[in-house]
Order: sequence, then structure tokens, then C-alpha cells
Amino acid sequence: MKATRTPVLTERILCHPESPEPEAIARAAALLRQGELVAFPTETVYGLGALAFDADAVAKVFAAKGRPSNNPLIVHIAGRDWLEWVAVAIPPVAHRLVETFFPGPLTLILHKHERIPPVVTAGGATVGVRWPAHPVAQALIRAVGAPLAAPSANRFTEVSPTTADHVLKSLDGRIAAVLDGGPCPVGIESAVLDVTTTPPTLWRAGILSQAELEAVAGQPFQRPQPGAVVASPGQFPRHYAPRAHVELVLPGDVPNIEHRLARWLAHGQRPAALVISEVTPPAGARLLRLPAQPEAYAHRLYAALHELDAQGVEVIVIEQVPADPAWDGLRDRLHRAAGKP
Ligand code: TXA
Ligand code: MG
Repeated sequence: MKATRTPVLTERILCHPESPEPEAIARAAALLRQGELVAFPTETVYGLGALAFDADAVAKVFAAKGRPSNNPLIVHIAGRDWLEWVAVAIPPVAHRLVETFFPGPLTLILHKHERIPPVVTAGGATVGVRWPAHPVAQALIRAVGAPLAAPSANRFTEVSPTTADHVLKSLDGRIAAVLDGGPCPVGIESAVLDVTTTPPTLWRAGILSQAELEAVAGQPFQRPQPGAVVASPGQFPRHYAPRAHVELVLPGDVPNIEHRLARWLAHGQRPAALVISEVTPPAGARLLRLPAQPEAYAHRLYAALHELDAQGVEVIVIEQVPADPAWDGLRDRLHRAAGKP
């Protein structure tokens, strides 16, 4: 007799983004407290949450994502006084940054408290800490009553999810539930700033500009040196990548974009362009135009990449964003999408 397997489906828990319903939060919190995985919205991208103090629950995160165990997770908290619960020897510069930017799209790397299990930090002595600003994330973490370890809720190397549909496309059947609080307002991952080094190291740029962060920190930062990727393993190339092949062209180089679309069509491929400038695509090529402001662009970027993947586009010609520092986080994500360091 053949054994029948019941499909494991992920529960979608609908939730109002500004005033989360207590029943929705209670349901998600109960699953988490049982050691299950629940994806939830933050202002940046959807996170895949697990109890940070429960090594078995955290191990499930790595399994569900197919993430190598040498890549540490960010611990999410829900209050200033939770910092000392997860980190020790917090330097004054961290307190200044927390005062200004928490809750918000910033992760601080601090010395870890011994109660954080090694699986969270990939055996390392430091821990990434973030206090998300999203009302649903805050309500959930408070209801659980303990910090949540949460990477972006996508399979390893894929584009991060900014809607519950993106989460389900990647992880349906691999996690207990997704708390669906609508699209994420920011749309790209937090800035990751290591304040255990002197000067601090900006491992990952985000929507907060380096200049803004440096002004509050009171000192310039260092950027990762080539070869230093091991200290923040999420920083290697071809991360945040769509399935399609990605080509970057210089900002404003419209003739080049149109030429490449025509050439891919001639090669029998299904191309698309993701641009800020006005472009007239040849018949048969898809075109998505994104706003010329970094915040509005970030809000749309991952949804656009997910959409093009879902349409079976094979090549995406992307117009690189302006050279201005306000676009640093976005320029970085486009480089990674193209598989460039
Ligand atoms: O906006 C975000 O940060 C989202 C939401 C869910 O909070 N989370 C997120 O997590 O993007 P993840 O795991 O996809 O990316 C975390 C990045 C990785 O590049 C990882 O290597 C780095 O932060 N990281 C985490 N802990 C670290 C540590 N102790 N030292 C250096 N880098 C660390
Ligand atoms: Mg990620």
C-alpha cells in the first residue's frame, strides 16, 4: 500500500498593518512560542521569525531557508530595555544610534549576551540587533515576550519578500504561518552597522544614508574590505538575486538599454528593462519604470523583480541608480542582483 502524505500548507493570518488585530497576533505568537516558524512584516522586508533563545527553533530557520549555518541571524527586540537582554558591553556610540534610529531600518552588531545560543550568531561573539518600527512586528514580538531571530523570509540567495505572497511563493509548506500585514513600506533590508569595531563598519547599506548615520555616530565609518566577507557572510555576491539574468547599464544610457532589449529579442530571449529614465522598448520586451526618488524606488524594487520572475522574464536590463550617496543601499542591491560584489 502506498503511504499518502498530507501536504503541509502554510497558514496565512491576515492582519491590519497599522492596528493589528489581537487575535491575529495571539495566533502567530502562540505558534512561535511552540517553537514554530512564522513570517511577519517589518518596515524593511518580511522576516522569518523563531524564538531567539530556542536553539531548535532557530535551527529550523536555517533548514527552511536552505541557509548555510555560517551566516548569522538578526535578533529582533521590542523595546530599548531589551538591548541588555541580548547584548553586553554596549558602547556609547551604539546608545547614540539607538536613541535616534531605533525603532527603524538599522541593525547594530554588538557583543552578544551568553544567553543567545551560538546557532543564532553562527558561533560568533557578536549579534545583530534590530528593533523594527512596523506595528505588526512590534505587537508580535511583545506578545511573544521574547526576542525573535529573523532573517529575510526567502530561500537562500533569493530576492527578499516585501509581501506575504512573495513569502508563500518561496516558503509555502516549509513554515507554520505568515502574518500578512500587507506590503513593507521601506522595501529593502536594514543597514547593518558593526559598532564592535573602531571605527564602526557599515556591512550593508540601507535606506538610511551613511552620512546620516555618521553624523549621529560622530565619526566616519569603514566599509568592508575585499576578502572580509567572512565576518558578515550575507555580503557575498549573487545574493538578493532574481532568477533572470541581470545586466546593469549606466544611469541615463537609454540607447544602450533599447539596444540590449532588441539584441536579446533577436536571440529568442524574453527580456525586460527596469528603468528610471524614459525608454521606448521594442515590441515584445517588457518595461517597468520606477520612481526617481530613493525611498519610492526602494518601496517598489523587490516587488518589480518578483513580478518579472513570475512572468518568466529571462533577462532583466537594469538602469543603474544615480551616483548620489542617497542611493547607496539601492546601488548595492542592484550590484548583488547582477551577481557582482
Ligand atoms: O531588514 C532586515 O535586516 C531584515 C528584517 C527581517 O529585519 N532581515 C534581514 O536578515 O535582512 P538577513 O539574515 O537576510 O540579513 C542579515 C545580514 C546578513 O548579511 C548577515 O550576514 C548579517 O546581516 N549579519 C547578521 N549578524 C551579523 C553579525 N553578528 N556580524 C556581521 N554580520 C551579521
Ligand atoms: Mg536575506
